Amino acid sequence: MIQKPLLISKQTIQAVQDRADIEDIVGDFVTLKRKGSGKYLWACCPFHDEKTPSFSITPDRGIYKCFGCGKSGDSINFIMEHDGLNYIEAIRHLATKYGIEIIEDEQSDEQLAEQNERDSLFIVLNYAKEYFKEQLHTEEGKSIGLSYFKERGFTTNTIEKFELGYSIDAWDGFYQSATKNAYNEDILEKAGLIVRKDEGKKYDRFRGRVIFPIHNVTGKVVAFGARTLKKDDKPKYLNSPESDVYHKSKILYGLYQGKNAIRQHDNCYLVEGYTDVTSLHQSDIENVVSSSGTSLTEEQIKLISRFSQNITVLFDGDAAGIKASLRGIDMILEAGMNVRVVVFPEGDDPDSYSKKLGSTAFKTYLEDNATDFINFKTGLYADESAKDPLKRAQSIKEIVSTIAKIPDGIKRAVYIKESSNLLSMDESVLVAELNKILISDRRKDDKKRVEETTGEKLLEELITETEVKGTDYNQLVKIQERESIRLLINYGFNEIEEEFKLYNYLLEELEDVEFITPIYKEIFEIFKKHLESGQVIDSKFLIDNSEGKVKTEVIDLVTERREISPNWNDKFQIHIPHENEQLEAVVYTNVARLKFRVIQKLITENLAKMKSAESEEEQDKMFRIHGELKKSEVELAKVLGIVVSR
Ligand code: GTP
Ligand code: MN
Repeated sequence: MIQKPLLISKQTIQAVQDRADIEDIVGDFVTLKRKGSGKYLWACCPFHDEKTPSFSITPDRGIYKCFGCGKSGDSINFIMEHDGLNYIEAIRHLATKYGIEIIEDEQSDEQLAEQNERDSLFIVLNYAKEYFKEQLHTEEGKSIGLSYFKERGFTTNTIEKFELGYSIDAWDGFYQSATKNAYNEDILEKAGLIVRKDEGKKYDRFRGRVIFPIHNVTGKVVAFGARTLKKDDKPKYLNSPESDVYHKSKILYGLYQGKNAIRQHDNCYLVEGYTDVTSLHQSDIENVVSSSGTSLTEEQIKLISRFSQNITVLFDGDAAGIKASLRGIDMILEAGMNVRVVVFPEGDDPDSYSKKLGSTAFKTYLEDNATDFINFKTGLYADESAKDPLKRAQSIKEIVSTIAKIPDGIKRAVYIKESSNLLSMDESVLVAELNKILISDRRKDDKKRVEETTGEKLLEELITETEVKGTDYNQLVKIQERESIRLLINYGFNEIEEEFKLYNYLLEELEDVEFITPIYKEIFEIFKKHLESGQVIDSKFLIDNSEGKVKTEVIDLVTERREISPNWNDKFQIHIPHENEQLEAVVYTNVARLKFRVIQKLITENLAKMKSAESEEEQDKMFRIHGELKKSEVELAKVLGIVVSR
């Protein structure tokens, strides 16, 4: 009998959640500091590049949140995000760390399907890799695939190291073999290995091509690149489509085989193609990766930066390629890394040129020709602007804007000096231009930072909206709804009177208030639903047991940087300091305000209807309603100590 795979039990997950101390876990990766006596600990964010800390943890809530990039979650999410693990892998990892025994339950078939999909993808991709490797040694494989590799100078060692293979030139050779071995068709399709035609007929994606398996950083095969062997066949390289395990913006070809050398040499060569990578290995240069023809992404840069801060970009010898790559290089500089470039003679790429020169001469060429990128770019524009004085101003802007990307001020100063020499231009002119860019960038950054902080964003938007458009009651209601939910999940268990908890009060009072903001409505419903079964939940429960928007929102609601604008208290009547002490007053006022805002919203809506009423009868009805609403408004205003117009 086949035993059903197991699922980690609820108790184990609970034990891990209870034990997984956020400070302890995050502290393994970054240095946490307390600012003053605040409840947060701060660090530079491990998920994006920054120089000043905007990553916070709240130890008593067990959560982290970065006010810069917006990433947030609990200690398990942190491990998932940081180590690229799925939920179960993260639980296992933490259980091992804390010596918690892993108790497993049997999975239902559905759970099995879901949990195992990623694993299944890895399994079929690995099977495919083995299959393609074998095919290289069949009759057809030898005479077509292997002979192609040999002709191009691939050594046996390279073929083994990169696990190269061949896919036979038939419609469904792989499909037949995989299904015979009981691999699931859906998974084969999801892995991009087979393609389903309209009539339901299946065939292999890769046919009659040599195969380059693409490994992730841990060495698992996630996709394939397949080169045609026919002269005019298009595309030349056919790649696997994206899948749950393959996101091409997050993968670099050769990183798995090269990461140790990258660390060791503290430099990473960046090339365009698969064959450039393999050829460099054959020239005894293993610290090389390829973005495989696509433009470089921030994630790929981040991936390299785990191993070295230095990148040397190797350009094919054509100007078009260089211009197209400039943006990618600016991105590397922005990440605070160092970039050098090597240009090859017209018509050559690293693959062809290394073969031309041979290993030793090629290495020397790289060493002699690696130019610092800023100097390289300055040279590029210096030539242009020497010929055409009108282009001069444009060139200066181009170069200085690249220098402005460098986060480090000292480095920027050095480059300004060098560029001023190369361009024969006064340093002060360049500095003035640089400052202009830096100031405008800083403004954009500040604005972005405010917007990224969700709580503040809502209020910030409101400030502009109310000031521009007059009073928007929908927004005011939304703010009070948010405040109610915030109080509920933060202080639900606090007693506001003897034996009377805050949640009792809120749920009772808001029983027939219909929330208009979907996310607050959803959280409120979750609360009510649990209460019906006698369970009162809090923010910790919500964080542990929800996903997506709810979780993010809850985290936002428990991590607010209220201190930013103390006058919001006056402007928007949201209570700010020391609320724990005056909770009773805070919650009464919140409920009254929420109702007050709802009434005002209804009044405006009713007035609008009154204006467009078709009959006098209808108008009368609206008028009566208006009277009733006004009465409530006045009553609530009295409670709140606000004067309203009659
Ligand atoms: P060879 O012709 O085998 O030497 O390949 P190359 O690596 O020199 O290829 P080329 O310079 O034409 O392209 C560089 C890289 O771009 C390749 O290694 C591929 O990753 C990618 N590439 C090239 N052609 C195609 C294509 O038709 N489709 C896709 N998806 N990628 C391609
Ligand atoms: Mn080539």
